[in-house]
Amino acid sequence: MSHSKEKVRIVVTGKGGVGKTTLTALLAHCFAREGRTVLAVDGDPQQNLACTLGLPASEVRSIVPLSERKEYIAEKIGALPGRGGFMVLNPDTADVVDRFSYPAGNGIRLLVLGGVKNAGSGCLCPEYTLLSAVLRNAQFLPGDVILLDTPAGLEHFGRAVAQGFSIALVVTDPSYNGRSVAGQLCRLAHECGIPRIFLMTNKARVTGRDAMKNDLSPGYISGKIEVPDDPCIRAHEPSVVSALDGDCPAAGTVERLVRAVCS
Ligand SMILES: Nc1ncnc2c1ncn2[C@@H]1O[C@H](COP(=O)(O)OP(=O)(O)OP(=O)(O)O)[C@@H](O)[C@H]1O
Ligand SMILES: [Mg+2]
Repeated sequence: MSHSKEKVRIVVTGKGGVGKTTLTALLAHCFAREGRTVLAVDGDPQQNLACTLGLPASEVRSIVPLSERKEYIAEKIGALPGRGGFMVLNPDTADVVDRFSYPAGNGIRLLVLGGVKNAGSGCLCPEYTLLSAVLRNAQFLPGDVILLDTPAGLEHFGRAVAQGFSIALVVTDPSYNGRSVAGQLCRLAHECGIPRIFLMTNKARVTGRDAMKNDLSPGYISGKIEVPDDPCIRAHEPSVVSALDGDCPAAGTVERLVRAVCS
């Protein structure tokens, strides 16, 4: 997926429910276990990456997303949420991880972006401006590996994501609808200018066949990966930690993938 010494910036996208958050969390732990410094960014307003990484409910409840850090938004953007006015459109947000990320086990840092009303329409509100700046400048944030979990689709912060992230991991399940959306997302990621696009067929039931079925992928796909359907993941959800410590095929597949990337 990437050269071992290279900084890795991965956006994980795909249709709803295909396993984006699960895979983001598995990847985060596997990269951390390989000795990489990992920043996991939750870009989904539903904010379920924290519990999937294994944070206990009490800690999850205490997380304040970036979109609600009104003072920081005012400091960086020069305008308060809900008020508008003159705004700094490309603020320096390099300090955001130091100030607002949470420890998420295994040395992983977690940054929760939170929700922005009308993000899909690219509103020019201060929260949207701040979050897009964080994503656009992702290559300057600390961390060997940055993983961005997203809500279904790529639209919300499309252009900002494309500037900050060099790898798109498009996740699908073996269903026709999942594969069809994945095909559209691959195209969108390519059009946005993300240089490397990998197609990950998750919850695959027949080894080799489910990923091969994905004939919708065009020539610009850098690689196809298959992760098996794994009752062990469901049994331990929402956290992936026990799956990693047990003998779970899906976790094992992600572990081998990350080891190959890091070797
Ligand atoms: N390989 C797998 N085998 C079995 N179950 C899985 C696998 N991957 C994910 N799941 C299960 O699928 C469900 C959806 O996973 P997840 O929440 O990660 O999807 P998502 O794409 O992030 O969803 P959303 O679009 O709502 O954010 C969860 O119950 C999760 O445990
Ligand atoms: Mg999710």
